[in-house]
Amino acid sequence: MDKIIIEGGTPLTGEVTLSGSKNAALPILSACVLTGGWHTLHNIPALRDIWTIKKILSNLGVVFEEDGQTLRVNSDNLKSHVAPYQLVRTMRASILVLGPLLSRLGKAKISLPGGCAIGARPIDFHLKGLSAMGVDISLEHGYVVARADKLRGAAIFFDIPSVTGTENLMMAAVKAEGKTTLNNAAKEPEVVDLANMLNHMGAQIEGAGTDTITITGVKELRPVTYSIIPDRIEAGTFLVAAAITKGNVRIKGCRVDDLEAIVEKLVDSGVKIEKQAQDLIAQGNDSIKSVDIKTMPFPGFPTDMQAQFMALMSIADGWSMIRETIFENRFMHVSELRRMGADIEINAGQALVRGKSNLSGAQVMATDLRASACLVLAGLAAKGRTEISRVYHLDRGYHDLDGKLSLLGPKIWREQY
Ligand code: UD1
Repeated sequence: MDKIIIEGGTPLTGEVTLSGSKNAALPILSACVLTGGWHTLHNIPALRDIWTIKKILSNLGVVFEEDGQTLRVNSDNLKSHVAPYQLVRTMRASILVLGPLLSRLGKAKISLPGGCAIGARPIDFHLKGLSAMGVDISLEHGYVVARADKLRGAAIFFDIPSVTGTENLMMAAVKAEGKTTLNNAAKEPEVVDLANMLNHMGAQIEGAGTDTITITGVKELRPVTYSIIPDRIEAGTFLVAAAITKGNVRIKGCRVDDLEAIVEKLVDSGVKIEKQAQDLIAQGNDSIKSVDIKTMPFPGFPTDMQAQFMALMSIADGWSMIRETIFENRFMHVSELRRMGADIEINAGQALVRGKSNLSGAQVMATDLRASACLVLAGLAAKGRTEISRVYHLDRGYHDLDGKLSLLGPKIWREQY
């Protein structure tokens, strides 16, 4: 296994280019199951979750041709409708093949994702929506077994907006008979990216990016050439990296509108952020002001940036209240940050962070994807040496974060242990 080692205290300077969005690429790759022919997808990030979805799709009979960040995908010869436990257990988003398989083959058997480190994360909304569309669903030996002779449009209401739930139902609905309405749908940019890709395929989807998405079923879809949006969580992570090290970093190729909530909080904390065309330039301030955050569905502050922001707040002036409203157990980075000297108290879904003037390097362990990014950021700012083990969590969702950071000046490298 790899660990990341950081000698902290160097302000980051220079420029960095973002990779494609993991959370957009996962549903878009799954959507290639909807119709045969060669799809060409640009800006696919090279990271572990993409490898996992490719593995799941290969298992179904999908074939790939890879050329750097471009992936050609063909699902002409599907030979299976099963996503097995060994693959699904490593990535909950594997459930994204359920909708496309039902649309294409009328059947799917997907392992239940099981427990997850950051909370219960059920899939009941996915299943309830599909059953309203005429899918017969049973749970057998740890698998969701779903069958439908014909998918029909339905009016579906989400109790809470669910990102992959919205995506799964959108994909199930594109060729269903009649109209499907998704109410209280997720508005995340990744949902919009998928809808745009599906519309290029010939789907009729309206309202993506709003609370209500309407999908009118079509008879035929065609393969597409499509480019994935840049990763807004990677962008946010580099913005915090500039802030926490009091550096100056140009982040190239951002979609600034997707980053409003993050940028606003960073500006409140004293970071100077300038927009130049598609780039954001972040200049950290010597003194970091404490600000409160509350995670919310888009356009609110993303839960996927909560851990990274907490690292910043742990060296801010004053107290910060961080409320997590999306995933109940997403504070596992707290005990590791405390090992680096952070003063954080957790009470009923909120963390009270009392900013300290310094963090100190320590041996820490990554517990989930965004928690690993939080520890890398803390290590960049800390005095002395930080060693982060179990960084396979980081590799699930970032394309070479440590490599990209090392080009901005700090001493950061990997070793095997
Ligand atoms: C997606 C993102 C993840 C992000 C999260 C919230 C992908 C691949 N992953 O995860 O990075 O942190 O959105 O922005 O895009 N819920 C239910 N029942 C369901 C589905 C969800 O109760 O059937 C609840 C969840 O427990 C959570 C909330 O709804 O409290 C939102 O979760 P959801 O948006 O579904 O998260 P994911 O799609 O799994």
